[in-house]
Amino acid sequence: MKLRSQSWFDNPDNPDLTAIYVGHYLNYGLTLDELQSGKPIIGIAQTGSDLAPCNRHHIELAKRVRSGIEAAGGVCIEFPVHPIQENGKRPTAALDRNLSYLSLVESLFGYPLDGVVLTIGCDKTTPALLMGAATVNIPAIALSVGPMLNGWHNGKRAGTGATIWEARKRLAAGEIDYPQFMEASTASIPSVGFCNTMGTASTMNSLAEALGMQLPGAASIPAPYRERGQVAYETGRRIVELVWADLKPTDVMTKGAFENAIALNSAIGGSTNAPIHLNAVAKHVGIELTNDDWQRIGHEIPLLANVQPAGDYLAEDFHRAGGVPAIMNQLLANSSLPDPNAITVTGESVGELYADRGISDTNVIRDFDAPLKPAAGFLNLSGNLFDSAIMKTSVISAEFRKRYLSNASDPEAFEARAIVFDGPEDYHARIDDDALAIDENCILVIRGAGPLGYPGGAEVVNMQPPAALIKRGITELPTLGDGRQSGTSGSPSILNASPEAAAGGNLAILQTGDLIRIDLRNARVNVLIDAAEIADRRSCLAKSGGFPTPPSQTPWQEIQRSHVEQFAQGMTLKPAVKYKNVAQTAHPR
Ligand code: FES
Ligand code: MG
Repeated sequence: MKLRSQSWFDNPDNPDLTAIYVGHYLNYGLTLDELQSGKPIIGIAQTGSDLAPCNRHHIELAKRVRSGIEAAGGVCIEFPVHPIQENGKRPTAALDRNLSYLSLVESLFGYPLDGVVLTIGCDKTTPALLMGAATVNIPAIALSVGPMLNGWHNGKRAGTGATIWEARKRLAAGEIDYPQFMEASTASIPSVGFCNTMGTASTMNSLAEALGMQLPGAASIPAPYRERGQVAYETGRRIVELVWADLKPTDVMTKGAFENAIALNSAIGGSTNAPIHLNAVAKHVGIELTNDDWQRIGHEIPLLANVQPAGDYLAEDFHRAGGVPAIMNQLLANSSLPDPNAITVTGESVGELYADRGISDTNVIRDFDAPLKPAAGFLNLSGNLFDSAIMKTSVISAEFRKRYLSNASDPEAFEARAIVFDGPEDYHARIDDDALAIDENCILVIRGAGPLGYPGGAEVVNMQPPAALIKRGITELPTLGDGRQSGTSGSPSILNASPEAAAGGNLAILQTGDLIRIDLRNARVNVLIDAAEIADRRSCLAKSGGFPTPPSQTPWQEIQRSHVEQFAQGMTLKPAVKYKNVAQTAHPR
């Protein structure tokens, strides 16, 4: 088998160019034998750095990956990927998912690589790398950096993100002061690794395993555990075999594999960012995946993982209880895994791989017959304000259900008065304004927070009620918006509304005081004004110059805004999705 890298490193028909390509790869100590004896050249796409602390442990793990690659007869070339740090990057890390994707495509396409290890972890690193591998389509395997250890504060588990949302409410209610708030919040970050709640990172790493792109069990091993280094080694060994087997991302990430990932997402109580990212990965593979698929496949699946924010425990507990393999096993055993024949990077199907994986602690991972909640997947809502918005039903609290979803005549529907905010700054400035007269019959709405309105899309829909309401014991209100929210949030928001206000969606014409009807049974959300009034308001908006968006601050913000699709379409770049299998089009210069 002739390897792709040989057209760079070992091409007797073009000795000049070969020498030019080979020469500089010798200058740090590689030998001619390593580059010209037909060994697979394996990239490690390195996402860790001091700027990206969630993935920083990959710098250590890469040493074990390298050993595995060499033990299996490959040559390792590690290279950087544009950093994405969820909690470091302004205005939002989501802005950089597509930039990181683009940079990876260029690296994989333009350099002599036969296969690649994708070092995934922090929220957007996982979709960015899977998207890149899908577009180029050389053999690829993902390796999670692993979650942090459990955080602890005052003898209780402290989950990343979730602890902040909780402590913030206590700060607002005057129960703790700023230093106490900081102490509680940072206690939730006890070690290297990604967030230890079932936020977007744990979710996307779990989905990468369910998709078949990681070794079984590799998603949930905590970053500091010795098994994390061991699975890094095995991942290195396996990528070399994948090159010889010529098993590519498009062989693994099939429609059935995506459907399996959706089912798993419901069972783990996964993040509302997952549909955006998984739909994007699918698109780059060339598979149509929509928010309808999420409701169709996912909604009836029960919640099995008792992990924050939908449950009580954290990632370390989840791993000890059996992790993704135990959940996959439960889905399989209960005919709820859509495609048991989907092939994984091991070469075996998910049906074979997970046939025998038990639960070791049913407090943390429930049996399918005794779930935390039945029918715990997402709803895909639509109506006269947007075409699609997601709601995570697994985090509807008993209190929320009692207050809003217990109407005797129609228990799944309620009406609420809209309080409309234009972006997060407006929300922070006005939420405690008495003139708004916010009470428990209100729904907080935020707009101007989508991919165009707030470049990349802001994680802001999980808005807190005004402090006065929290002091009265009302700790959550219904919320709605064209932005996202953190996967660590336990808020049952209606979010990711597409199209966003800035892209022509009717959230742009919503006014404070409008009545909104939310009907979960029929997955409908409508503002209770008639079509003529909507048309009237739209024409006024057009006359006033349209929905205002802030100017771009960087070149990339402007470039992304001119090409990006809406959340429901995966927030992909329109010109990018037509490129498929690009490694096949590579030819020597
Ligand atoms: Fe990076 Fe949560 S902020 S994983
Ligand atoms: Mg986040």
